[in-house]
Amino acid sequence: TWTTGNVIEEQVEAIRELVGDKRAICGLSGGVDSAVAAALVQKAIGSQLTCVYVDHGLMRKGETEQVEKDFVAATGVRLKVVDAEARFLDALKGVTDPEQKRKIIGREFIRVFEQAQAEIIADEGPAVEFLVQGTLYPDVVESGGGTGTANIKSHHNVGGLPEDLEFKLIEPLRKLFKDEVRMVGQELGLPEEIVQRQPFPGPGLGIRIVGEVTKERLDLLREADAIAREELTAAGLDRDIWQCPVVLLADVRSVGVQGDGRTYGHPIVLRPVSSEDAMTADWSRLPYDVLARISTRITNEVRDVNRVVLDVTSKPPGTIEWE
Ligand code: XMP
Repeated sequence: TWTTGNVIEEQVEAIRELVGDKRAICGLSGGVDSAVAAALVQKAIGSQLTCVYVDHGLMRKGETEQVEKDFVAATGVRLKVVDAEARFLDALKGVTDPEQKRKIIGREFIRVFEQAQAEIIADEGPAVEFLVQGTLYPDVVESGGGTGTANIKSHHNVGGLPEDLEFKLIEPLRKLFKDEVRMVGQELGLPEEIVQRQPFPGPGLGIRIVGEVTKERLDLLREADAIAREELTAAGLDRDIWQCPVVLLADVRSVGVQGDGRTYGHPIVLRPVSSEDAMTADWSRLPYDVLARISTRITNEVRDVNRVVLDVTSKPPGTIEWE
């Protein structure tokens, strides 16, 4: 029978046998998947694992700190943090095409990661042979690696790896769905804020700005996103929705009236969805008063935003993310 205890025991044993006295690296994204994968491998091989967190500057408010502090506190994992914000913003300069953004972010991610890897190998010797990835079953399927479903978008944690990759992959969550991963994380003693975190895409806020990605726009979107998350949590709705992308339409402006007069600002889109596995989704029927609070706060508190709109499209036809 399937129990989280069995899954953990089985994986821990398999990982120990596979890795032996070698070393492994795991990239942490801030999300549930990589955190649980890392915690699982940490349980198996302890300090033979080093985690790398690439701060690409596309994270939401408070997320980097959560990885740096809470995750390390909970697991005792060895962590190397790389501040690569400037590099990512530079690479994304002038880029508006969604797939182009994904490719650039995926590519830069690998480069920064490889650089960190080289530094770790320089410190620890060439025994670093394994790379841990938090690939889930739906990722495998949607990338065409499972049941032959067409590749809908290039998920950068699956298809984007370079061909001359020198690592052997450890993917302990490859057969699991999200809810199962959460149960495993809980069993491993990870904090609630990490285990119950809603999915967040690897390319981060970079694919939630329709238009060019700039530092200024990211800061603006971070504020709006933090408000939406805060109000959804306060209303006790986190478990009812799968995730709620907050999207900045940076290339769209509309006329508004705020404070002293006319404004010409950007719209923010709320995209709350309910889903089982992200393969299909329905838009969440959030209470009007919660939507009203989010809207009022965002337009009052976030500079240059004068309109909040609600996305009422299911998937299909709309994907969950806008890009
Ligand atoms: P879509 O937009 O394809 O999203 O309906 C389905 C789920 O996948 C997440 N997502 C990604 N996750 N790398 C990731 O790790 C990506 O490139 C990526 N694109 C989308 C999305 O947030 C949703 O949960």
